[in-house]
Amino acid sequence: MQPFQCALRGARLLRRRPVVGAVRLAPRTRSSTSRSLDSEAHTKEAQQAGGGLEAFRAKVAMGPSMQHFLQGAAPAQESHRWPDDATEEADHYLGASALAETPRKVYLETYGCQMNVSDTEIAWSLLQKSGYLRTRTLEEADVVLLVTCSIREKAERTIWNRLQQLKTLKSKRSSSLAPLRIGILGCMAERLKEKILEQEKLVDIVAGPDAYRDLPRLLAVAETGQQAANVLLSLDETYADVLPVQTSGSSPTAFVSIMRGCDNMCTYCIVPFTRGRERSRPIASILQEVQLLSDQGVKEVTLLGQNVNSYRDTSEVQFLSTAPTPLSRGFSTVYKPKAGGLRFAALLDRVSLIDPEMRIRFTSPHPKDFPDEVFQLMRERPNLCKQIHLPVQSGSTRVLEAMRRGYTREAYLELVHHTRASLPGVSLSSDIIAGFCGETEADHEQTVSLLRQVRYNMAFIFAYSVRQKTRAFHRLPDDVPMEVKLRRAKELMAVFREEAAAANAAAVGRVQAVLVEGPSRRSPLDLCGRNDGNVKVIFPDAEMDDGSGLGSTAKAKPGDYVLVKISSASSQTLKGTPLRRTTLRESADFC
Ligand code: 5AD
Ligand code: SF4
Repeated sequence: MQPFQCALRGARLLRRRPVVGAVRLAPRTRSSTSRSLDSEAHTKEAQQAGGGLEAFRAKVAMGPSMQHFLQGAAPAQESHRWPDDATEEADHYLGASALAETPRKVYLETYGCQMNVSDTEIAWSLLQKSGYLRTRTLEEADVVLLVTCSIREKAERTIWNRLQQLKTLKSKRSSSLAPLRIGILGCMAERLKEKILEQEKLVDIVAGPDAYRDLPRLLAVAETGQQAANVLLSLDETYADVLPVQTSGSSPTAFVSIMRGCDNMCTYCIVPFTRGRERSRPIASILQEVQLLSDQGVKEVTLLGQNVNSYRDTSEVQFLSTAPTPLSRGFSTVYKPKAGGLRFAALLDRVSLIDPEMRIRFTSPHPKDFPDEVFQLMRERPNLCKQIHLPVQSGSTRVLEAMRRGYTREAYLELVHHTRASLPGVSLSSDIIAGFCGETEADHEQTVSLLRQVRYNMAFIFAYSVRQKTRAFHRLPDDVPMEVKLRRAKELMAVFREEAAAANAAAVGRVQAVLVEGPSRRSPLDLCGRNDGNVKVIFPDAEMDDGSGLGSTAKAKPGDYVLVKISSASSQTLKGTPLRRTTLRESADFC
């Protein structure tokens, strides 16, 4: 169990500005203690504040009841609510915006992975319900929230630098306006709460990935001039009832979060510490969201999670069974085998039936969770994209063992072989870490040879960055010099590019269905879209057969499927000639 830290600890450390609601990793059974400490602090404040607006603000700062912190703990079926039903709860929380004469404008900035993009939408959805307005112009903002990433040191350095810029913005703010409020959200908030509050006095609020429901209260506290924090990790918060507001406006693609957290504890990775335990969003709310997106004309949904294919919904009794969860052949886990629950294949089945014209992708899966049912379904359903991210991390069994990935090089290659045999033409991508603890030149060469053998269509290559708290930080010396890590990463990138160019060249002369996303960034005369394998395809924005069968022509729009004959390829992009507009079902016969 994580040690419980006193909610007032931060307040003692920071004499200038007391911290309110600093709750840390309190297991649910201990949360009542955290509430009583919190409430005591708030009550004192209220007494000191006197009457009028100050008293009102102090009352608001008293924040939610224990029930609020336990919200995620309610049985998933009970917490399944959609915005219209949720107003009663929202009324308990008068956000800072509700106190202001004119609604406060919030500027959100997202760093890191797709989960953070999805979290930004969740945070915004919650703030919108509390009366905030969104601005895309930093200078107009009353509140700036950074949704942060901790995966590598560089990601955190970017945020520290950004905070310096925001310091200037805050100090320049006109005294006729309420002070600019700045918040750190997400993984970095979870990892560095105290450091952020102490070091960066300009930061007003800190909210971990499971604390977004608390944002209106935290901001209300910040309006009283105090710093406010909530980094409580939940065992079951999935924001199932929060309908994200699409930040990308009219984009034909969307992300749907289906699970959060990670139980794998790879030795290099901070994610299990910043995002907490693995938990799955109930299927009913996922299906509802995908249906809604389909009704809005969205043509591609990517199911998101840290370990998306470990999905295991236990929210309904009929999903419970004692059947053990099968793993891919040759794979193991550090945790006790899990049993029961509605699994990923069943979710994919239901999601893909909602709209046969909507493409479904998923990321990021773990190679250990690929039972044959998943491949079979992907083979049968034209709208399940034949694209799989299979993060290998290293091509050396010795390094994989040190990383505690739960597989050998041979088991991974066997899985690649099985995937290709099950899904001919599948597009594969990977994550690779260069220079992990103890990695020798021979280990590195093993990764080079794996890249050649697999020939990925896409790869993300990172230099190892030691993260505090992880097993590698405690047990393994970070003994590969930075220049060696960078040199190896560069070599891996060069090999990947060579192989990807060869893999993409195989598409030349073929006809592919491309979902149009919009104009090409390079030239307004071209359109840009993606094929089934998620590779970018560029083609001229020309009149083409509109696919109606009436002989009429039209230009393609974002959200249209177009048959494109591929004429050239590089490691990252395909180029081609548009033939005609199509549907996904029809294109299944062509491609
Ligand atoms: N250093 C470098 N890369 C890392 N990743 C995760 N933790 C680290 C780290 N400490 C990479 C892994 C993971 C991807 C999201 O980030 O490759 O799959
Ligand atoms: Fe990190 Fe491993 Fe979990 Fe991925 S599977 S989030 S790399 S601990």
